[in-house]
Amino acid sequence: MTDPFAIAPLTGGVTPRILALANQKGGVGKTTTAINLGTALAAIGETVLVIDLDPQGNASTGLGIDRRARKLSTYDVLTGEASLREAIHETGVPQLYVAPSTLDLSGLELEIASERDRAFRLRNAVKALAEDDAGPRFSYVLIDCPPSLSLITVNAMAAAHAIVVPLQCEFFALEGLSQLLKTVEQVRTGLNPGLAIHGIVLTMYDARNNLSDQVVQDVRQFMGEKVYETVIPRNVRVSEAPSYGKPVLLYDLKCAGSQAYLRLASEVIQRERAARAAA
Ligand SMILES: Nc1ncnc2c1ncn2[C@@H]1O[C@H](COP(=O)(O)OP(=O)(O)OP(=O)(O)O)[C@@H](O)[C@H]1O
Ligand SMILES: [Mg+2]
Repeated sequence: MTDPFAIAPLTGGVTPRILALANQKGGVGKTTTAINLGTALAAIGETVLVIDLDPQGNASTGLGIDRRARKLSTYDVLTGEASLREAIHETGVPQLYVAPSTLDLSGLELEIASERDRAFRLRNAVKALAEDDAGPRFSYVLIDCPPSLSLITVNAMAAAHAIVVPLQCEFFALEGLSQLLKTVEQVRTGLNPGLAIHGIVLTMYDARNNLSDQVVQDVRQFMGEKVYETVIPRNVRVSEAPSYGKPVLLYDLKCAGSQAYLRLASEVIQRERAARAAA
């Protein structure tokens, strides 16, 4: 069997790199990481698109896209009514863009359930975007998944080069991880053989809580090098920023949360470079 954790080799000079933020557990930091890793990557020179695939639309809100402004959304993209390019908005961060979602997305599954290409809707949309020279050329696409292993998440996994898994530093952190890894394996077998686990990011680490350290140790022991060195601390500035429609890096660049997301972005880029060198 192939190593399920190997980073997929890059073919030719293909860009962008497509990473899906996935964990079917709710509230573990997927959206916060999509917003702030995206911002940090843009701040260090990448051109980034965040695709909001959660009907809750929190990534869109957190990036300052008012609901009324979401004329075209990822729902329209996945139903074939719009191209991804048409759905994209600029954000307050230079070089960071978002394709927003709306609640319509919650009905998508039923609508496309019997279509043959139902799992490839996003992959096809991203491919068309990469082939079209009409707008910004993205070096990273981050996909914010909903808290489920539904067809929407499967679309993200079928479109991605690799998965980034946020795990909250809490007692049940590892619960559900085997289910997630099983789904990744199924997607590799049936839909996307190159799909890799890019890394596991520990979130909401609380230095005052002994349990947090225990969780970090356990997860590192279980998942080894797949766990990024950077641990994202629990930081009130991180949770305040979305209500201002801003990434924490714009809201308070100096806070511990912003600094951690900048370190995470460098690690992501380093892993990409290492994968490229090995290919
Ligand atoms: N480092 C952090 N410090 C403090 N609060 C945080 C941090 N990361 C996330 N949060 C808060 O925790 C909550 C859950 O985070 P987030 O929405 O990113 O998780 P999620 O996995 O996307 O959730 P869902 O599964 O509902 O989509 C949010 O209120 C967010 O502001
Ligand atoms: Mg979310």
